[in-house]
Amino acid sequence: MTDARPRIVVTRKVAEPAMELLRETGDVFSPDPDRALPPGELQAAVAGADGIVSTLQDRVDGALADAAGPQLKVVATVAVGYDNADVRALTDRGVVFTNTPGVLTDATADLAFGLLLAVTRRLGEGERLLRARQPWSFHLGFMLGTGLQGKTLGIVGLGQIGQAVARRALAFGMDIAYTGRRRAPDDVERQLHARHLPFDELLRTADVVSLHCPLTPETRHLIDARALDTMKRSAFLVNTTRGPVVDEPALADALAGGVIAGAGLDVFEREPDVHPRLLELDNVALAPHLGSATVETRTEMALLAARNVVSVLAGEGPITEVKA
Ligand code: DGY
Repeated sequence: MTDARPRIVVTRKVAEPAMELLRETGDVFSPDPDRALPPGELQAAVAGADGIVSTLQDRVDGALADAAGPQLKVVATVAVGYDNADVRALTDRGVVFTNTPGVLTDATADLAFGLLLAVTRRLGEGERLLRARQPWSFHLGFMLGTGLQGKTLGIVGLGQIGQAVARRALAFGMDIAYTGRRRAPDDVERQLHARHLPFDELLRTADVVSLHCPLTPETRHLIDARALDTMKRSAFLVNTTRGPVVDEPALADALAGGVIAGAGLDVFEREPDVHPRLLELDNVALAPHLGSATVETRTEMALLAARNVVSVLAGEGPITEVKA
C-alpha cells in the first residue's frame, strides 16, 4: 500500500458491514449503486481505482482494468460465478481476481430445493389458482403432484452447491447420481451415496436433473433439445446456476410438448428477460435469480469480497482467489 489512501470503487449497493470494512482501508466510491452501469460508464467510474468490488452484472475484463489504470491491484466480485470476468486478462495485467465461494452454498441449495418442491408439488400453480379466485374443492384426484421419495436426483456438477443439494435430497429419501468431468473424492461419494454416471446416462436415469456446473464455453447450452429428449418424460429440470447452460427456447418446447414433466428455474438466458413461452406454462416454477438472496448470505458475500480487497491492498494476498 502507498502512503495515500487507496481508492476503492464499489459498483453496486452492498451490505453496510462490508462498506464499513472498506472505509477503514480506503476512500470508497459507489458511483451509482442502484444501477448496473454499461461498460463505458463503468470504465469511467473505475478510473484511478486500486480495488474494485464488482457484481455479476459488470463486465470485468482487460478494458476495465486498463480504464482503472496500472495501480489497480484487485477486483473482488460478490458472486461465486464469474462468467462475466476475463480472469486471464486481469492476471496478465497483474490484477488479482476473487470470488465468494462457500458462503452462499446453503442458500443456493435451499433455493434449488424450493424450486424442486414448487414444481413437483405444483405450488405456483395452486397459488395462481387461488389468487385468480378460481372455484376449487378438495377431491382425491385434485392437483396431484410427484413425490420425491425413492426417486433419483441427477446432479450435474458435484461441487459445494451440488453436494449441499444432494444432502437435502438424501433427507427427502432420494437416491443420488452425479456427472462431471472429474469423479468426486471417495469420501464425498460415500457420504452422499452418490454414483458417478456419464452425462447421457445421468439424463436417462434421473427423475430430477439439477444443474450446478459453472457457465463455460463447454457448458453453454449443455441442456439442449437433444439432452431434453434424452431425459425421462416424467423428469424435472432445476437450474440455479446460469441461464445459458440451458437452451431456453428448446426448454420451452420440451415443457410445452411433454418431452419432460416440468422445470424449476432461478436463472435465465437473457436476464432480466424470461422467454415469453415459459411465462405461460404451468409446469414451470420461476424465480428471479434468488439463489443467494438472503440477508445473511448477501452480507457474508459482501464481507468476503471486502476482506479480499483489504487483504490484497495490505499486501497480504487474497483469501479466495480465482486463478486464470
Ligand atoms: C453467484 O454468486 O454466482 C450467484 O449467481 C449470485 O449470488
